[in-house]
Amino acid sequence: MDISSEFLLKYNVSGPRYTSYPPANFFNEGFTSADYVSELVASNKQKPEQISLYIHIPFCPRRCHFCGCSTVIAQRKVVVERYIGALKKEIGFVAGLLDSSRRVTQVHWGGGTPNSISMNYIREIMDWISQHFQMSENAEIAMECSPAYLDYPHIDQLAEMGFNRISLGIQDFREDVLKVVNREAPRHPVKEVVDYLRTKGFRGINLDFIYGLPLQTLESFRKTIEQAIEIRPDRIVTFSYAHVPWVKAAQKQLEVIGLPDATDKMNLFLQATEQLTQAGYCPIGIDHFTLPEDDLTKAFANKQLHRNFQGYCTLETTGQVYAFGASSISQLWGAYAQNVKDITKYMELVEQSGTAIERGYQLNQQEQIVRTVINSIMCNGLLEMDELAAEFGISADQLKELLAYDPSKFDDLVADGLMSLVNNQLRLTEKGFLCARNIAMLLDPALKRGEGVYSKTV
Ligand SMILES: C[S@@+](CC[C@H](N)C(=O)[O-])C[C@H]1O[C@@H](n2cnc3c(N)ncnc32)[C@H](O)[C@@H]1O
Ligand code: SF4
Repeated sequence: MDISSEFLLKYNVSGPRYTSYPPANFFNEGFTSADYVSELVASNKQKPEQISLYIHIPFCPRRCHFCGCSTVIAQRKVVVERYIGALKKEIGFVAGLLDSSRRVTQVHWGGGTPNSISMNYIREIMDWISQHFQMSENAEIAMECSPAYLDYPHIDQLAEMGFNRISLGIQDFREDVLKVVNREAPRHPVKEVVDYLRTKGFRGINLDFIYGLPLQTLESFRKTIEQAIEIRPDRIVTFSYAHVPWVKAAQKQLEVIGLPDATDKMNLFLQATEQLTQAGYCPIGIDHFTLPEDDLTKAFANKQLHRNFQGYCTLETTGQVYAFGASSISQLWGAYAQNVKDITKYMELVEQSGTAIERGYQLNQQEQIVRTVINSIMCNGLLEMDELAAEFGISADQLKELLAYDPSKFDDLVADGLMSLVNNQLRLTEKGFLCARNIAMLLDPALKRGEGVYSKTV
């Protein structure tokens, strides 16, 4: 792929990541626990019918300086125990409002580092979930793990509990990179861990990497990706380092060491793309590479790829997301609802009332349509206006009006080979996926631009 510095100058602007539409900075405190309860009840009659559960474990033994997640460092046992109790209360409360015939197709554990707490707590929650929900036979049960705290007996126990997917946060294989970002190295060789996971029936095994960290050079990152390819996981994600020191103060420490500039950063990504595609991985969506036989590759080919705060998933298995734990975000058809971030406040509120909503957003019908448009661009690199309008019972002209659509906005992108626009069909090219966020921004009627709010798009 030919990417020049002019290209970066032109397209690397500040913009939403569109992990949700509208983006999380639109959530407001006018949305209360009472609104959440009404939305939970309403969600029983909305699509998708399936249930996805998200369990947030905020605890990490130490903080990686780059981290953009909601974490709490090194908590005492008594706090973890109380947190587990609160999770159970919240799960019980929500389950009581949901139609018991709906099935759970996905359970996702994220954080923080869920595998840094005792497996007994994980089992306690999994048992609790089975007592409160009907699980679908082929449910995907996944956990984001840090390999620094993952031992073989943990894998055995996770498999026994029904876990069948795993994502390992690698970030970089180089010890000096890990050291300057304050991250512990994997406890066991990652290849052996991945091979072992396979013997235990895990599928869709994923390794996370980040490009744009201090000390990363083209040569060092080439070796890291080479090593990843040798391990041959089903999925490899190369996240663009999101530098938002105004939200995550610890990230300022990385500025002192020095971060690669936009061109160096893009070259790291392009090199990784080249290596991964040559090794047989398929680029899907943004930053994701998957083996041809993986479910996500097939979903991408069939325009069935979907995305939520937990990452890419298939439309077939994804349900409305009911999230539990501090800072977690439920994603229902009609609303987003986010819990308070402070864990003490979260535990107090849940202990009192069963919920701990801090903010959220109710989507009107027009926003539900725009959300589908943005998801289609971000996941499948495609917008078929006639088809999508028909899905919502409106005409293509009404859809265009809603999107403040003006084809001339895309002239530059078409001329630069990033997308095509033919017969009400907008399709991104492979290079265009680098600018998916820019294209989504042009279809977002509510976009609020702001250097101080969003990370860079490319
Ligand atoms: C919750 S963490 C994964 C589990 C575990 N805590 C770990 O670090 O291995 C989710 C992923 O987010 C990514 N991530 C965290 N901070 C990021 C940032 N500032 N920019 C881009 N990706 C980031 C990392 O790749 C990380 O693996
Ligand atoms: S990257 Fe993972 S391990 Fe590191 S602080 Fe963030 S959540 Fe914790």
